[in-house]
Amino acid sequence: MRATVGVAVVGNPSGGWSDTHEGACGNEHRIDRFEQPWGPSKWALIPWPGAGLNLASFAEMRYGCWRGLSRRSSATDNTMGYTSRQLQSTINEDATLKLALTTEEVSDPGPDEVIVRIEASPLNPSDLGLLFGPADLGTARAEGSADDPVVIADVPKGLLSSVAGRLGKPMAVGNEGGGVVVAAGGSELAQSLLGKTVGVIGGAMYSQYRKLHVGSCLALPEGITPRQGASCFVNPLTALGMLETLRAEGHSALVHTAAASNLGQMLVKLCQSEGVPLVNVVRRPAQAELLRALGASHVVDSSADSFRQDLVAALGETDATLAFDATGGGELASQILSAMEAAQNAKAQGYSRYGSSVHKQVYIYGGLDRSPTVLKRSYGMAWGVGGWLLTPLLQKLGAEGAERLRARVASEITTTFSSHYTKEVSLAGALALDAIAVYGKQATGEKYLINPSL
Ligand SMILES: NC(=O)c1ccc[n+]([C@@H]2O[C@H](COP(=O)([O-])OP(=O)(O)OC[C@H]3O[C@@H](n4cnc5c(N)ncnc54)[C@H](OP(=O)(O)O)[C@@H]3O)[C@@H](O)[C@H]2O)c1
Repeated sequence: MRATVGVAVVGNPSGGWSDTHEGACGNEHRIDRFEQPWGPSKWALIPWPGAGLNLASFAEMRYGCWRGLSRRSSATDNTMGYTSRQLQSTINEDATLKLALTTEEVSDPGPDEVIVRIEASPLNPSDLGLLFGPADLGTARAEGSADDPVVIADVPKGLLSSVAGRLGKPMAVGNEGGGVVVAAGGSELAQSLLGKTVGVIGGAMYSQYRKLHVGSCLALPEGITPRQGASCFVNPLTALGMLETLRAEGHSALVHTAAASNLGQMLVKLCQSEGVPLVNVVRRPAQAELLRALGASHVVDSSADSFRQDLVAALGETDATLAFDATGGGELASQILSAMEAAQNAKAQGYSRYGSSVHKQVYIYGGLDRSPTVLKRSYGMAWGVGGWLLTPLLQKLGAEGAERLRARVASEITTTFSSHYTKEVSLAGALALDAIAVYGKQATGEKYLINPSL
């Protein structure tokens, strides 16, 4: 039997070579290229069109690999483990945050698992929450070396109790990403993903390799790159999920805050295609322009003197009684409820001392503003404020419902659900203080992408 494989020579990036070798199994194997290095003293077999195997460590290659090659050419066999660098965040009892890179062994995939080489993973607001916790980034200082950077920052002592559950425990970060399946377990589904570009979810994506259940992978259409597929779960499914909630709870129009975000831009396009009126709340004139350029009809700027007036007018026109608030803090949720109440009362027939009977709902689904949520109740008794998270919604929708949303994301990943990134950095690059100062702001158009394979 002849197996064609790719080989990565690490620490010797000076060219490729080709060889045909008689293995211990008596079979012939051809090794004919190598790839980018990613770690010390490692060789690896990489996916190769027509190859029946995926990766081997240097030791296995030298001492047992050839027998392994033929065994692994079977569609039902596993490969052997990968060594993977991973970014971890630890908050310690001494009130410091430590960000560092560690090396993890990724064990063989089980029958329904695959190993994905992660090539793109966004630094989303929810990732930053886990990455930095309540640390004061103004105190961030660099330690370690260029290849092995460490960042230390102080955590205000009064905030330590808010992260009691993670004290002393290294946290692997990165909710989602995009990459290539380089090894697969024996099941038909796992094997069907081999060599494919996939969007993935499941945490710890700031890693070179991730072992994942096939259900955590979304096979992307031919030609889509890992970068294009890096954000195909969290924001797209949330935008779609908002419309699911809107319909399930009987609303007809929507309000969205921090609306110039990546998610907000998706929502503008999605609501247009679904015919759902959307009121976008932004906090700068430039953000209003950005959304209008995308075709948004209702954009209100909270920095304008006429904000309340503009909001009531937009709510009157759209009849929106549901809002998704990404800021969470301050008075914005309350201001929206109050404006909804005014818009509904303007249409009401007669006066009720209990206020409008139309239910008005704000879901806080993000925490961009860490200050307390302030409710100034001036909106009758038919209102609600609650938390909203994607995962429970997907559970409620069930496997079929979730699959319906995923299929739509895959088919519109370069249009409705495209994301924008300012810069791509390596794992080490993500720990550079100047990079942290930019992506840590969570500002419009400043999202970074980590490429752990760099
Ligand atoms: N609950 C869930 O399941 C779920 C799922 C996905 C996403 N989310 C949330 O969705 C939101 C958007 O995510 P994304 O990845 O699309 O964000 P993004 O592209 O990084 O954009 C962040 C946006 O938030 C704005 N912003 C930051 N701090 C703000 C503040 N204090 N007040 C008002 N606006 C502020 C920024 O505007 P400036 O330029 O003005 O700072 C920017 O437009 C996040 O809050 C995220 O946590 C929640």
